Amino acid sequence: MDMLHRPRRNRNSPYLRDLVRENHLRVEDFILPVFIMEGNKEEEIPSMPGVYRHGLEILPQFLQRALDLGIRAVAPFPAIDEALKDSHGSESVNPGGLYPRALTAIKKQFPELIIFSDVALDPYSSDGHDGIVSADGEILNDETLEALAKMSVAQARAGADFVAPSDMMDGRVGYIREALDAEGFKNTGILSYCAKYASSFYGPFRDALQSAPKSGDKKTYQMDPANVKEALREYELDIQEGADMVMVKPGLPYLDVVRALAEVSDVPVAVYNVSGEYAMLKAASNAGWLDYKSVVLESLLGMKRAGASIILSYHAMEVAGWLAD
Ligand code: PBG
Repeated sequence: MDMLHRPRRNRNSPYLRDLVRENHLRVEDFILPVFIMEGNKEEEIPSMPGVYRHGLEILPQFLQRALDLGIRAVAPFPAIDEALKDSHGSESVNPGGLYPRALTAIKKQFPELIIFSDVALDPYSSDGHDGIVSADGEILNDETLEALAKMSVAQARAGADFVAPSDMMDGRVGYIREALDAEGFKNTGILSYCAKYASSFYGPFRDALQSAPKSGDKKTYQMDPANVKEALREYELDIQEGADMVMVKPGLPYLDVVRALAEVSDVPVAVYNVSGEYAMLKAASNAGWLDYKSVVLESLLGMKRAGASIILSYHAMEVAGWLAD
């Protein structure tokens, strides 16, 4: 047949496909989320087979394994004892609390590892919300900013390289930037969860931290899944307020949002491949319905193709192992 264009010519052999490949996954692209708790045990998270809460005393072994596989960045999340939670999340600024102690220990033992610390009230809040809740159930924006700023300073002091506000309060990036600078942490960066949606894909994460809202939902602060222009508005504000990197969350159902930000952003765009996305692929693969390795790599490559340069993923350890093979 007479045909000028035959795109299949460029797919003809493995080497040729390697040659023309447009996007690549690298171990350096990943930030590994790590659940931590007190003690010297590990507990598997039932809705995330293969992912554990790590007792602080044995966390170094796990982090050493990650480093050996080439992982260079971690995002720790603390499982706080229910008895230490209160309405203002005051445990978040206790310098002797689990999280600051963990950050200091990690930085001391693994100084080269980049730490992205989590800034939001929910792990410490008796209400399970990212902000302070008023008597009639309203999430109080401006009152929460002060708590987030104090938490950020405590984390920077403890050893965080970047603070990552995941709370979605208005104005928090600027407020945190000012507080960090005022305390002399001008080199501590901010990775802002810029477009964070009110998603049902966070379920397993909330199991892991026992941090689900006690009442209500997060829709007055996290974004409506129907919106993309709003993500651009959040992006503009976060950049004006001094964000060094921005993030879209979740990943797979929001790749158009990743693309939209990647097109305009002059700071790195990260994507959070969240707990529910991990659970889906793990469960279907464990049932024998999907081939785990290939669906994971395909999903993550899709995030790179959409324009993300950084990926937070619970698959990061496994991927690092595969990439090293
Ligand atoms: C809360 C927070 C959540 C996640 C990260 N930070 C859950 C939520 O907003 O309720 C979810 C991450 C995941 O599902 O993997 N500050």
